[in-house]
Amino acid sequence: MTAEDNGRLVWDALREEQERLGDVSILALFADDSERAEDFSLDAAGLHLDYSKNHVSKDALQLLLQLGKCCDLPARIEGLFAGERINTTEDRAVLHTALRDRSGQSVWVDGVDACLAASAERDRMLSFVDEVHSGRRLGATGKPLTTVVNIGIGGSDLGPVMVVEALRPYWIKGRRAFFVSNVDGQHLADTLMQLDPETTLFIVASKTFTTQETMTNARSAMNWFLNHGGDQESAKSHFVALSTNETAVSAFGISAENTFGFWDWVGGRYSLWSSIGLPIALQVGSDHFVELLDGAFAMDEHFRYADLAENMPALLALIGVWNRNLEGIGVHAVLPYDQHLHRLPAYLQQADMESNGKSVCLDGQWTALKTGPVIFGEAGTNGQHAFYQLLHQGTELVSCDFIGAVNSQSEMADHHPKLLANLLAQPRALMCGKSLDEVREELFSEGLSADAVETLAPHKVFEGNRPSNTILMDRLTPENLGALIALYEHKIFVQGVIWGINSFDQWGVELGKQLASDILPRLVDGASDGATVLDPSTEQLLQWIRNRRG
Ligand code: F6P
Repeated sequence: MTAEDNGRLVWDALREEQERLGDVSILALFADDSERAEDFSLDAAGLHLDYSKNHVSKDALQLLLQLGKCCDLPARIEGLFAGERINTTEDRAVLHTALRDRSGQSVWVDGVDACLAASAERDRMLSFVDEVHSGRRLGATGKPLTTVVNIGIGGSDLGPVMVVEALRPYWIKGRRAFFVSNVDGQHLADTLMQLDPETTLFIVASKTFTTQETMTNARSAMNWFLNHGGDQESAKSHFVALSTNETAVSAFGISAENTFGFWDWVGGRYSLWSSIGLPIALQVGSDHFVELLDGAFAMDEHFRYADLAENMPALLALIGVWNRNLEGIGVHAVLPYDQHLHRLPAYLQQADMESNGKSVCLDGQWTALKTGPVIFGEAGTNGQHAFYQLLHQGTELVSCDFIGAVNSQSEMADHHPKLLANLLAQPRALMCGKSLDEVREELFSEGLSADAVETLAPHKVFEGNRPSNTILMDRLTPENLGALIALYEHKIFVQGVIWGINSFDQWGVELGKQLASDILPRLVDGASDGATVLDPSTEQLLQWIRNRRG
């Protein structure tokens, strides 16, 4: 029997198991198995994962592990770390893991040792950071460069801004970091008005150095600098680039000396570990940046060598596959109970949805399986007062990841127990729910009349049985953050393997870009001579805009 046949049989068995579980609640699964909480939890690289509050049985889990084996998961994991060209549509290796591998081992890609290349470029970047921090590198007028503006979008923005926000307690005193991404001029303008050109370092971060948003913002930032006392010569002390495209960087006017590079085997959304991490290192210091890498490396080692049954990213991914493909859940919420992780949902939206939002398999065939879910989220407890109503009582099932740190970085001692109590209460409420009988009893005990109880009771019922994972760490340190990000990166990779898709390209972002460049001249010059006829709705909207443009 081929691996494919085996895979089909396992999918059939999974469907049968899901049907068998039918009305068996998660609570009933706990009642039947006193070891469930312990058996469905594990520790790795400073993180603790409890996935016991999912509507999944031990038999289902065994089948999911078998599915992983049918999809050749152990070999595929090895292929990732070994630098195989697994991004097939772009014919590229995918080696973000090499960026944080400081163990001294080699990974060869196109005749280059990726670990060695990463280490050399990291050394260059971190000596630049030390020069800025020590004042050996100053602005053109001799003032220290205390403010950084990172101009980038997508992977050249979301990772760095998420990490800088997460590591606030590690910020170097007196340093400021801003992130400008949107092509909406207000984003840049709102930032520029807070800056002193003499103390500002602009980082133009773009893998391709062709992205419309970033290049537009970079040019406008340069014009602002030139209009605020700067000139071409002084700009050299205030602009650096992070890119793989040396030619475009040099055409923009930034020298090779002021450029920190990376390679095509680093995907944009997996690039915060590369030179794209420069704004992180400038804000929290080189040591903490290296700790971030080390935390990710600890998770890499776990993912690479742990058996699938004890492998945190693999288990998180397989539980996600169960929820997506067997339970039919198409929305997944990321809910960090840590204010400093408030950009994690946005970061994971790109990491997950740009990676696994695909409909075509590696062999070019349309997929028969549902792939990546919609990812959204918000920091707890804010989300509780916004969209949790739907999580608890809505008609759409949403799977959730609750994430938190046991110890706070804040000194306001009475806040953290309240935050943690909420972190524990919400997944419990989602799972346990509250039955009609319980609601009736509660209302009667509050002294409501029988009529009032019957009218109100149905509205206060919580169906329960809603699945979630809980991920805990001791404290939100750079190491633990690194491990958390790597956990999600690997989860996404495993799901891509199970779904048979390429998680590392992003062709789906191209069409919109093409059409925008077709529309732009019609907006700017009003010209449409010889241009393609647009659909009537877009044509009409364009006309409406033209009639009202100032
Ligand atoms: O949104 C598409 C995308 O290509 C992302 O994958 C990438 O992170 C982002 O644009 C920015 O690209 P670049 O770093 O080349 O400017």
